[in-house]
Amino acid sequence: MGEQNRTRTALSADDPAVGRAWALHEALPQTLPADEIIALNTPKADLHTWRTYAYRDWTFEMPPGVFTPGETSRMIHDRILDGTIPVSGRSYAAMGVGLGVEAVVAGLRGAKEIHAMDIDPESVRAMTEVYERIVGDRPGTLFHPWVSDLFERVPDGAQFDVVTFNPPAVRETVSEDPAVVRNVCVGIGIVRRFFDQIVQRNLLAEDGEIYFIVSNTSELRNIVAYAIESGFLPEVIHHQTWDTDEVQTFLFELRRSAAV
Ligand SMILES: C[S@@+](CC[C@H](N)C(=O)[O-])C[C@H]1O[C@@H](n2cnc3c(N)ncnc32)[C@H](O)[C@@H]1O
Repeated sequence: MGEQNRTRTALSADDPAVGRAWALHEALPQTLPADEIIALNTPKADLHTWRTYAYRDWTFEMPPGVFTPGETSRMIHDRILDGTIPVSGRSYAAMGVGLGVEAVVAGLRGAKEIHAMDIDPESVRAMTEVYERIVGDRPGTLFHPWVSDLFERVPDGAQFDVVTFNPPAVRETVSEDPAVVRNVCVGIGIVRRFFDQIVQRNLLAEDGEIYFIVSNTSELRNIVAYAIESGFLPEVIHHQTWDTDEVQTFLFELRRSAAV
């Protein structure tokens, strides 16, 4: 038995929930072959133009370089809107928020505070404008937009009840355009730093949840293994497949594990 498996076995013996987490990990699909990932993620030619995005009754103007929300994005947006991802009266961190639909929806649902982060200043500018237009000043809801590399700009001592992240974790570099890379294919490194910062800065409240979306176009199993080893227990709350390709997308809810 390798060192890694020994550690897993020891942790699983301490806490059956950790054993179940590793069983879930074992059942996840392998990452798709590189050529399939590249074919599936061919960037659209319009990223560096102004575009319009519609969600429910709202229309958003998207400046050049800002990520166009897709079906994966909506898996989070819809669940905040319908309360499956509960934000009302809670402290919410929207990581890599892009155009900001999740921040808007959380504002309308009455989150207590919203910290909305993106490394891209143009995304943060667009998000702030759209938040002010659709949500505006709302008693009981504080809005903090940050141009930030992950949680770096978030003040010390902050703690969140809910964190969401649709990370640009595609494994293959599908373009040499830095904006495409930032939006889509930074790879597993960004996810490792995300979990590291949450653990090192104790950013997740004791009974808080992380909602995290990832597919087999990324290092799915390694990402989930890293999350478990970092002290989180994943549960699949949505598994999406498509008729047209072999992509499998998973929306995980992660909570702190008692064992680590
Ligand atoms: C896949 S997009 C998701 C956008 C939006 N949340 C959605 O679901 O439509 C990934 C986002 O992460 C942002 N991003 C990339 N690297 C980042 C980092 N180091 N820190 C914060 N945000 C980052 C990108 O600018 C982009 O807006």
